[in-house]
Amino acid sequence: MKIAIIGAGTMGDALGKVWAKVGHYVIFGVRNPPQGRGNSNPPMAGMGAGTAVMSLLDAAMKADIIVLTAPWPTVPDTIKALGDLSGKVLIDCTNPLALNGEGSLALSIGSTTSGAEEIEKLAAGSKVVKALNIYSGENCANSEYPNAAGLKPVMFYCGDDDEAKGKVHQLVAELGFEPVDTGGLGMARSLEPLALLWIRLSVSNGRNTNFTWARLTR
Ligand SMILES: NC(=O)c1ccc[n+]([C@@H]2O[C@H](COP(=O)([O-])OP(=O)(O)OC[C@H]3O[C@@H](n4cnc5c(N)ncnc54)[C@H](OP(=O)(O)O)[C@@H]3O)[C@@H](O)[C@H]2O)c1
Repeated sequence: MKIAIIGAGTMGDALGKVWAKVGHYVIFGVRNPPQGRGNSNPPMAGMGAGTAVMSLLDAAMKADIIVLTAPWPTVPDTIKALGDLSGKVLIDCTNPLALNGEGSLALSIGSTTSGAEEIEKLAAGSKVVKALNIYSGENCANSEYPNAAGLKPVMFYCGDDDEAKGKVHQLVAELGFEPVDTGGLGMARSLEPLALLWIRLSVSNGRNTNFTWARLTR
């Protein structure tokens, strides 16, 4: 697949490197090519020939799959810079998080909508799938958690377009996760708080960030 990573920071860098390794053509869409790295990790380090760095517009035009990994406050401007997204699969990895009045991380847009649904309104004609928002980039780049039960970490996703979800399912599986389709895009109202829970249990409380969710069934 031709994948444009939009916002090549911690998260975008982690995802792009793995997908490039398994044979996808990965285009990093940056604000200021070729010097657009700022303080983020250099995404080109150690990568193969199947990668490129381009402007946001060029990256979006050349790819079939757009992976949005920009900071939440920048999302409206970033999407505008991507041009016409009609027919493109847009994987939304963002989380609409901000500090609340008490200094705790919270959902900045409440719980009667979701970041993914707001993004769908901004990215007219695209097929939005919420995915890859519930762990750190580090956990996405290395999903291996050996365990006696042979379980894989789960990665929940949701969206309204089945064909788009099929592609995301494959990309998520290639990262080493058990992909779990949770339903329509409205389910992002559950997946975004799940990211908040993961952050509270790991980063915020100073616990181990090396943990994921797994699914036990019988
Ligand atoms: N970090 C994680 O572990 C993680 C996990 C799950 C979800 N997420 C979500 O993924 C998104 C990105 O998080 P991140 O931690 O990867 O962020 P980050 O390291 O700060 O990188 C974000 C990238 O977005 C681009 N960008 C575009 N407009 C920008 C602006 N106005 N200011 C700053 N950067 C801008 C920059 O790339 P260029 O300079 O190349 O344009 C920057 O490197 C967020 O929505 C976050 O909630 C992150």
